[in-house]
Amino acid sequence: MPRSGACDACDLNRTIPLWRMLSFLLGIALVVAVVTFSEREKRFEEAKKVVPIQELEEYIINNINPDNIRNYLREMTRKPSLGGTEGERELARWIEGHWKEQGLDEVHLVPYQVLLSYPSPDVPNLVRIVDSNDDRAIWVSASKQKPLYAEEEDLPELPFTFNGYAFPGNVTSDVVYANYGREQDFDFLESKSVDLTGKIIIARYGKIYRANIAEMAEARGAVGVVLFSDPIDYSPEGLDFVYPNSYFMPPSAAPFGTVKLVEGDPLTPFYPATESAFHIPEEEARIPKVPVQPISPEDAWQILSRMEGETAPSDWQGGLNFTYRLGPGFQQKNLKVNLDVNNENTPTTTYNVIGIIKGSVEPDRYVLLGNHYDAWIFGSIDPHSGTAAMLELSRLLMQLTKEKGWRPRRSLVFCAWGAEEHGIVASLEWAEQFEKQLASRAVAYLNVDMAIEGNYTLRTKSAPLLYDVIFEGTKKIPNPNPEEVAEGRTTVYDTWALRRPDTVQPGLPLMQFIGSGSDYKGFQHNIGIPSMDVRYTHDNATIGEPLYHTLYETFAAVDEIYDRGFLYHKAVTALWGDVAVVLSESKILPYSLGAYADFISRALEGIINTYEDLIATRNITLEFFTEAVANFDKTVKNFTEELKQVDMENPLQVRKVNDQIMMVERAFIDPRGLPGRPEYNHVVMAPSQKDAYSGTAFAGLKDTLVAITETSEDKRDGLWRTFAHHLAAVTHLLNTAAKVLTDDLW
Ligand SMILES: *[C@@H]1O[C@H](CO)[C@@H](O)[C@H](O)[C@H]1NC(C)=O
Ligand SMILES: *[C@@H]1O[C@H](CO)[C@@H](O)[C@H](O)[C@H]1NC(C)=O
Ligand SMILES: *[C@@H]1O[C@H](CO)[C@@H](O)[C@H](O)[C@H]1NC(C)=O
Ligand SMILES: *[C@@H]1O[C@H](CO)[C@@H](O)[C@H](O)[C@H]1NC(C)=O
Ligand SMILES: *[C@@H]1O[C@H](CO)[C@@H](O)[C@H](O)[C@H]1NC(C)=O
Ligand SMILES: *[C@@H]1O[C@H](CO)[C@@H](O)[C@H](O)[C@H]1NC(C)=O
Repeated sequence: MPRSGACDACDLNRTIPLWRMLSFLLGIALVVAVVTFSEREKRFEEAKKVVPIQELEEYIINNINPDNIRNYLREMTRKPSLGGTEGERELARWIEGHWKEQGLDEVHLVPYQVLLSYPSPDVPNLVRIVDSNDDRAIWVSASKQKPLYAEEEDLPELPFTFNGYAFPGNVTSDVVYANYGREQDFDFLESKSVDLTGKIIIARYGKIYRANIAEMAEARGAVGVVLFSDPIDYSPEGLDFVYPNSYFMPPSAAPFGTVKLVEGDPLTPFYPATESAFHIPEEEARIPKVPVQPISPEDAWQILSRMEGETAPSDWQGGLNFTYRLGPGFQQKNLKVNLDVNNENTPTTTYNVIGIIKGSVEPDRYVLLGNHYDAWIFGSIDPHSGTAAMLELSRLLMQLTKEKGWRPRRSLVFCAWGAEEHGIVASLEWAEQFEKQLASRAVAYLNVDMAIEGNYTLRTKSAPLLYDVIFEGTKKIPNPNPEEVAEGRTTVYDTWALRRPDTVQPGLPLMQFIGSGSDYKGFQHNIGIPSMDVRYTHDNATIGEPLYHTLYETFAAVDEIYDRGFLYHKAVTALWGDVAVVLSESKILPYSLGAYADFISRALEGIINTYEDLIATRNITLEFFTEAVANFDKTVKNFTEELKQVDMENPLQVRKVNDQIMMVERAFIDPRGLPGRPEYNHVVMAPSQKDAYSGTAFAGLKDTLVAITETSEDKRDGLWRTFAHHLAAVTHLLNTAAKVLTDDLW
């Protein structure tokens, strides 16, 4: 380009249009800027319209439309949406489309490049009974579950039955029955001198996380694992009263599920699986190295009924019509079990869909609501009942902004996560990617993995800081059960308190511990964002939902059996919305600090009652720990008292105390992780090591103490050192959690 000075000879006619064009463009830009600015002004003007929280709560509770939830669920469950497949991507775009149409301020698709596991498209996973003389199979398991009722159960593109990340392999051996595959079950087998080396284990699902079953079997020398759901646990009423006549499990059901041990993408531990990520070699990933395969109870019958060996104890007996034996092997010596697993680990892309309603006063404070949208097959309960609820909730909140000119005080962030079933993959990657922002800005993470898995009572898992908002919310939600209302229990709370009472605190409903097993993992356990997971549940299992992860989790199952009319979905959606709005609207964050202090005090008591004598055998004092617990309790009481004096009209004062309360949960995060478990950082709330589903307070201390009791006296030194070291860390973090509630650095 010539400099303008070099243009002495230039015709003015040529420079004038350029100048005109520039000023014209500038004009347009100005108009656009003014319009955008005034749009935003207008929006914030509108935002200033204060709608009292009670009015918002009533609006949400009353205006959730169960028919919308039903329609969303119908759409989401027509095809399978397995993580990382085209089915999942289609659903991502569908959710994105709905959020855009509803008018959310921002909608993002966030991709991650991850390693997911699939059954081979061509070679099914099979369990055979083979004759060792000629290697001929006398029986072969089903490669897919049998279609029974809904049309879509028959779709040709449905995947072969498999367990996610089960190691490919083809092994033939004698079989051993291991009950629920818990540590005590394997110990029992060893006490009976049943050799597990080189054997194939058959175990029933239901008491612990299936990946832990596979891990323990492998650790004890087994070469393969076959899993099944026993009718005694999942179809107690007999074969005539199963799906589609009831929600009980039919004999052809073979539940899918992952056996990967750590959450997230297996190849990018601790860091997000973005384009620039470093991938560790697959051999180093924490995935069991033995083949694992689920089969149906009718197929398990073929194996178990042929077994020999000692009669299994009475509590190992299941619902099939023979005496369960321990093995090893079959009565007919020439018969063996062949386990043939052909899964493929495949690099692929999975997406999170993130939709945001921006806050008006504190847009940089986030209340997160989330659920995954991938499913093993149709996932009408897990997860789509939850996502259908989330879509109705976002629709209703946008309607609120339009009808009442309301905007939330803090931002509401809706999250639809990818590939959760493979082991909490995309939500964890997102938590890793945005960890720092979330750590300084997120107020809570509210998960609804399933809105319903029954209609008997509410079931909650929650961080203690959210207890009060949940209790208060449930007291406002009308009871969806007309029989309960007739009995005088008019709210969700009333039925919950009656049917799931807390035995430790009589009068209160039971608030369950937030272990692992869903997308709150990264938020609660790594970043320290108080989280909850709520649903309506059934009364029949401490174990789980009978159709869980099977082919039969269809739309029809929900529509015709679990929740005819979708009123239980409505109740859960109302609770979700109520908790979100109270957390986003309250000037002072409505955290239950007192409940947290009580929770911690009770956990300390538990440790003292059980382990005081053991700990006293070493030169380790609990004095500092006990003092720190008392100090936290005292500081919380003082802070709660002082809170009453806060000048609510002074935004800096309000922001200051909110920042202080927000730091309490964060203070319990140890960046170095729990002893031997760097993937868990929260020293108070963590799942227990032997069963990722269940949680225990101060898991790092308790797991170490349990390990000490299981180790002979002369080999305990290392464990005691670990205990003392972690005890000091926990004590330090407890004192920090108290300190962040004060203005002082010291
Ligand atoms: C696995 O082993 C069985 C028994 O030897 C055999 O029949 C089958 O063909 C093998 N499967 C594959 C995929 O090679
Ligand atoms: C036991 O169950 C199997 C499989 O369901 C069935 O074929 C058989 O008839 C039953 N046997 C008895 C004695 O009930
Ligand atoms: C639970 O199962 C029992 C039998 O096992 C049955 O009598 C009861 O009606 C079931 N309850 C619900 C809520 O499904
Ligand atoms: C509640 O669940 C039971 C099964 O436990 C089912 O029979 C009943 O129809 C369900 N109620 C509604 C309203 O769907
Ligand atoms: C026990 O700890 C105290 C205080 O740290 C120390 O003075 C003492 O020497 C220790 N005793 C033993 C036997 O290690
Ligand atoms: C209680 O809190 C206030 C305000 O943070 C502080 O000034 C006071 O020292 C605290 N009292 C105790 C006993 O910690």
